[in-house]
Amino acid sequence: MTDAAALQREDTGALDLLACIGDEVTRETVNRVVSHLSFINGTVRAGNLATARKSIDPAAPPHLMLLDIADSGDPAAEIEQIMHLCSRSTRVLVIGSVNDVSLYRALIGLGVVEYLVKPVSGDLLHDAITAIVDQPEAQDAPQRSLRVTALVGARGGIGTTTIATAIGWYFVHEFHQRAALADLDLHFGNLALSLDLEPGRGLREALTSPERIDSLLISSAMTSVSDRLKVLAGEEPLDEECAVNIEALDTLYAALGQEFDQLVIDLPRSLGEGARHIIAGASRFVIVTDLSIAGLRDSLRLIELGKRVGNAADPLIVASQVGAAHRGEINQREFERGLGASISFQIPFDAKAAATMARKGKAMPDAAGGSKAATELLALAQELTGRETVKKSSLLGRLWK
Ligand SMILES: Nc1ncnc2c1ncn2[C@@H]1O[C@H](COP(=O)(O)OP(=O)(O)O)[C@@H](O)[C@H]1O
Ligand SMILES: [Mg+2]
Repeated sequence: MTDAAALQREDTGALDLLACIGDEVTRETVNRVVSHLSFINGTVRAGNLATARKSIDPAAPPHLMLLDIADSGDPAAEIEQIMHLCSRSTRVLVIGSVNDVSLYRALIGLGVVEYLVKPVSGDLLHDAITAIVDQPEAQDAPQRSLRVTALVGARGGIGTTTIATAIGWYFVHEFHQRAALADLDLHFGNLALSLDLEPGRGLREALTSPERIDSLLISSAMTSVSDRLKVLAGEEPLDEECAVNIEALDTLYAALGQEFDQLVIDLPRSLGEGARHIIAGASRFVIVTDLSIAGLRDSLRLIELGKRVGNAADPLIVASQVGAAHRGEINQREFERGLGASISFQIPFDAKAAATMARKGKAMPDAAGGSKAATELLALAQELTGRETVKKSSLLGRLWK
């Protein structure tokens, strides 16, 4: 049983189960089995995956779910979306009508703990549920992976931190994920400040002393923007060094992976061993630049660095404050030719949106959601989720609104 589930059981004496089952026969079996399991507090609904999606309260997801994929056209994609609405400790059992090994593998790969094919007998279901509940933490189920986005600005003051907070905000509010934002500039970082938050206490310890990392230290290092969006930042004395330890980073990732889907790291431009390790292991390395000659030179050097440290993916080049008269921009095509790479996203210069953001102490999409800058940031966030379909205009996007 997971820690969270164990805690809940102590509190209320029962585990919450949500079942959405299409056919009556299976639904009756589920009802019968659930009513016999005294430690289950079950809600059994007639319905399919869409019903399940609407029934989940992301703020209080169930401990256990039984989902019926029999009428789904794309069960793996739908299950993945549902799992993003749940806590990492939610255990998902899927019931379907086809005996298909590749489907089974796809579901297990997503973190589903069991797949049962109809007709499902009461005994089988009873055994499957009790086995899940008795399982020690995440025994065989693969961990859903933490996606790490590492951002570095080729220049200072061009909007890297603004972009980091904006994508974190979109991960949570547009894509229903859980996101942690980490500001690795422990001396001068302004990520927490830009969101009108006091930095927490403990990030420095967590990054420098792997043996001290535990859930208590992480929670004291974190401050909350909201339930699903947290900030890890510090404000360390300027005359004290904070050398990030590689082992500590790996331990921190493992701990954050229990709770978050996304980790966004705002890196300072002093790229020490810790920062290089982060870039090497990042799911996506994002280079933020303006369109100046200096931006071009340093973007080139950052692309080189990404390759040298072993990040196999092409970095995403994001041009920021595009159109700002004071930046000394060169022509975009010239810039791309010099770079030998394309600019993937262009965040326009928008002084009004930036001023609103500063006045409200909120992320760009929260403060100035209708701005062109915010729209481009949404496209960047979508790219970083690795998803192709969930966009504001999509059916799913509309359902969440
Ligand atoms: N697209 C934009 N248009 C106008 N101003 C911006 C934009 N993005 C950021 N800014 C402003 O630029 C300043 C520096 O932003 P910040 O995100 O802290 O940059 P960096 O992290 O690169 O130092 C802030 O005042 C911010 O409001
Ligand atoms: Mg910054």
